[in-house]
Amino acid sequence: MDGQVQTLLNRISLVSAAVATLSLLYLFSHTSLSCRPLDPRHRDALALTFARTPFPRSSCEAAARRPLPPDKRSKRLQSTRDWRRRVDSYAALFATLRSRGVLGNASRVLCVAAGAGHDVAALWESGVGDVTGVDLVDVPPLVRRCDPHNLPFFDGVFDLGFSAGLDEALFPARFVEEMERTVRRGGGIVLVVERCSSEEEVEEVRALFKRSTFLGVGNATLVGSEMTVIMMKRKSTHP
Ligand SMILES: *[C@@H]1O[C@H](CO)[C@@H](O)[C@H](O)[C@H]1NC(C)=O
Ligand SMILES: *[C@@H]1O[C@H](CO)[C@@H](O)[C@H](O)[C@H]1NC(C)=O
Repeated sequence: MDGQVQTLLNRISLVSAAVATLSLLYLFSHTSLSCRPLDPRHRDALALTFARTPFPRSSCEAAARRPLPPDKRSKRLQSTRDWRRRVDSYAALFATLRSRGVLGNASRVLCVAAGAGHDVAALWESGVGDVTGVDLVDVPPLVRRCDPHNLPFFDGVFDLGFSAGLDEALFPARFVEEMERTVRRGGGIVLVVERCSSEEEVEEVRALFKRSTFLGVGNATLVGSEMTVIMMKRKSTHP
């Protein structure tokens, strides 16, 4: 009887070991997917399943920080009047963030869902030296590719997280969670969303934040659109 139990126990532990090994292999094989171009249909499923892979902050940052000679395509894009108009629009918004003390030249800023990088360009031009722009599509040298729902940065490495892309986020709560994770305690998070016409609409956005306190709300015009700017501060006590 004891022998049988022992055999059974041995089998169980063998099976457990096999399962653990397989899970590990599975994790490893999928972890390496995170920074490869993904089929957009699978991207979000992957992002959700393999959330928060700890990458060095430098993986997306190295190229984005250098004032690179832009390639021909982006040079042409950036010489258009529309580009200038958009960058200037962001510059005006950032000027108000400076006056609120949320942003300075020494701030390490993360722009999430940065699109073509108008916000990144505006920050650079205004003298902010450390700006990282990310979005689903690579736009060198301003914007590096990664999923806003699964940022490849360590916790707390930025002073300010900025995004005008929450309205398009597939999973707004996850989007905000990742910004809160990557911004240091006491740092700022600023979201620009479609104009909120009521306190309830502002509250909807505020409620997405779990680790931040409310700093303020304001109206702004961004590239001709009436927007609401919501400013939060990462709690200094909460992990
Ligand atoms: C920020 O940097 C820009 C460009 O170097 C400079 O013109 C500006 O005075 C700086 N602002 C502050 C507050 O130091
Ligand atoms: C922003 O504009 C809306 C109307 O578009 C108004 O109801 C609201 O009071 C304004 N908020 C602030 C902070 O000025």
